[in-house]
Amino acid sequence: MIVKKSGGLAGVIAGSTAISSVGKGNGLKYRGYDIYDLAENAQFEEVAYLLIHGELPALDQLNRFRNKIIAGRQIPGLLKETLKNLPKSSHPMDVLRTAVSVLGCLEKEKEDFSNQQQIATRLLGILPSALLFWHHFQNSGIEIDTESSEESIGGYFLEKLHHSKAIEKHVKAMNTSLILYAEHEFNASTFASRITASTLSEFYSCIATGIGVLRGPLHGGANEAAMELISKFHNAQEARDGVKNMLDKKEKIMGFGHRVYQNGDPRNITIKNLSHCLSINHEEAHLYEVSEVIENVMLMEKSIFPNLDFYSASAYHFMGIPTSFFTPIFVFSRTAGWAAHIIEQRNENKLIRPGAEYNGPGNREFIPISERIH
Ligand code: COA
Repeated sequence: MIVKKSGGLAGVIAGSTAISSVGKGNGLKYRGYDIYDLAENAQFEEVAYLLIHGELPALDQLNRFRNKIIAGRQIPGLLKETLKNLPKSSHPMDVLRTAVSVLGCLEKEKEDFSNQQQIATRLLGILPSALLFWHHFQNSGIEIDTESSEESIGGYFLEKLHHSKAIEKHVKAMNTSLILYAEHEFNASTFASRITASTLSEFYSCIATGIGVLRGPLHGGANEAAMELISKFHNAQEARDGVKNMLDKKEKIMGFGHRVYQNGDPRNITIKNLSHCLSINHEEAHLYEVSEVIENVMLMEKSIFPNLDFYSASAYHFMGIPTSFFTPIFVFSRTAGWAAHIIEQRNENKLIRPGAEYNGPGNREFIPISERIH
């Protein structure tokens, strides 16, 4: 019998990786570099290069990589047509998953996988474009172009979203947030992408797998669910009472808890600071206070800590980003991590196919359909 605490492969070492380590739940490193160093000093594109190519880039390597991402913002005509035909009511995560599938038909991966890094780079460029092309077309009939003076992925996204030059403070916040979201060992979506890669399937299918898995509220979708919760409360007292009430009803509070981190998510301190800075002088600054109250209630009542998704929610909100784009931003970033894992899986491939303990009925005699009574 599978017991609850050991379910969900908790505590199971399912393979090895040189891409990132979560330490003993108290440190997070990407290829040996401390997440705090990267978040403080690096550009997201540098981190994406580190993940996809294995080492931090020299300046000329970074410039070439960034230029390829910028060139990769272009949307092929057939993909534009598909995006125009997707309903306005689609979830943005479904739009991204579809965009990846369509691109996989138009710009196929080579059978020997020799263009896998180019595809990863292309996806980093095109995903924000595809999402915002669909968004603006469905909401106002405008077909956005991909011209921009913004070199960074975060700045480009904000500029195209708001149709105006992005505020410098927001570009920096997006950069930090994308770095924090880029990679996290054998999380559910990455592990799923590796499973797809392990069948020797092509690159786009592996990424589409990751998007599908990330979408759920127990994983990446938690940042959207957290925002829905936070925005229900107008002040600290309402938040305190509301969350206690939810806990009494045994409801989960999204954006809290983590399979790996029992004593706090190391990324929380950085994202919380960011959310605080963005809240200053914001007309909805109370949402930061509400978030802190929820954090305190969760600590007092359940000893459960916020994960990266919790303060990401208010941080994105303070930048005027619609809630349904929160998990897609996670995709823009985690594509780098997924790509690194797909490449690593392929380099040392073995089909991932675990066993299961059977707990169904014992041997039974087949009864012809005409004789079955239910
Ligand atoms: N709110 C309230 N209670 C929570 C909780 C939360 N966010 N997260 C965990 N718990 C409680 C569970 O109810 C459970 O209590 P019980 O033992 O009395 O039944 C206990 O803590 C263990 O939780 P469980 O869901 O079994 O642990 P897990 O390792 O399988 O789950 C998560 C990890 C992330 C899925 C879980 O913490 C969760 O659902 N969090 C909310 C979603 C979220 O933020 N996801 C993003 C993760 S980065």
